[in-house]
Amino acid sequence: MKKDLISIKDLTVQEIDGLFNLAVKLKKNKSKFSKALAGKTLALIFQKPSNRTRVSFEVGMYQLGGNSIYLSPSEINLGVRETVKDAAKTISRYVDGIVLRTFEHKNCLDMAAAAGVPVINGLSDFSHPCQALADLFTIGEKFSRLNYTRQKVSRRLKGLTLAYVGDGNNVCNSLLYAAAKSGMNITVATPAGYAPNPEVVKQAKEMAKETLSQVIITEDPRSAVNGANVVYTDVWASMGQEEEISKRKIIFKDFQINAKLLTHAATGVLVMHCLPAHRGEEITDEVMDSKSSIVFDQAENRMHVQKAILIKLLKG
Ligand code: CP
Ligand code: NVA
Repeated sequence: MKKDLISIKDLTVQEIDGLFNLAVKLKKNKSKFSKALAGKTLALIFQKPSNRTRVSFEVGMYQLGGNSIYLSPSEINLGVRETVKDAAKTISRYVDGIVLRTFEHKNCLDMAAAAGVPVINGLSDFSHPCQALADLFTIGEKFSRLNYTRQKVSRRLKGLTLAYVGDGNNVCNSLLYAAAKSGMNITVATPAGYAPNPEVVKQAKEMAKETLSQVIITEDPRSAVNGANVVYTDVWASMGQEEEISKRKIIFKDFQINAKLLTHAATGVLVMHCLPAHRGEEITDEVMDSKSSIVFDQAENRMHVQKAILIKLLKG
């Protein structure tokens, strides 16, 4: 049966381990996998702009010997030119996998239900699973816990704390699932009214009971960052919320990742951002360009982890 990647909630820890083990090999030895997906084609259906997701999937597919087709918002025009389900059924007759970047998460679910080929969520208003998987992989790598073949993800990330400061958005939701599943502590600080999805928080807390990790939601950025090993942020206004930016700049002003806030974090704290960054808003230039910042390594790892996802889902 085909498998999709719509949410990290649907992955087992063993599956996450398997992806990371493979991603390490892919990162170390690009040429070894140069025919892994020969003859396969991936469709990228994007209703929003992208740099990292589009380029890393396209280049990743090319490096695996496969092909990709990018379909911009005006081409498929999901739900307008034809229904999501009809588009999914049609395109499944041509390609071997679909990456969908969309607004309503329901489009991902509908596409996965109707498509005859694996569907990967390349970002919806609800979640961004490829991002959070690559982020976890990056954290494991940076904390020198790269021995993926012998250590389980829960052992690797155990005891580390990630503090997410900013908007409780799609990236935050996926990080909550990812951290709780893998046994990493996560603290989220957002302004009142901008907390992550309550259902996600509830589910993440349940997962954390099993992995003996902690999920804390607060409105105090300083307490969230206190002792954190990783401090993470994202834009204050996501794609589709551009008209709210002036209002949000006022509401979020105390939630900026700057040198002062980082004095509360653990020694050797690492700073992450899924990018694109709005420098001077959610993160200062000083922090973004500092030695603590691993944002471009994080961006690079999108490709290695996504290549592992593509092999796992499309090779079959
Ligand atoms: N982080 C991320 O998904 O970037 P893009 O929006 O550029 O794809
Ligand atoms: N939260 C951001 C993430 C971009 C990768 C957005 O949805 O625009």
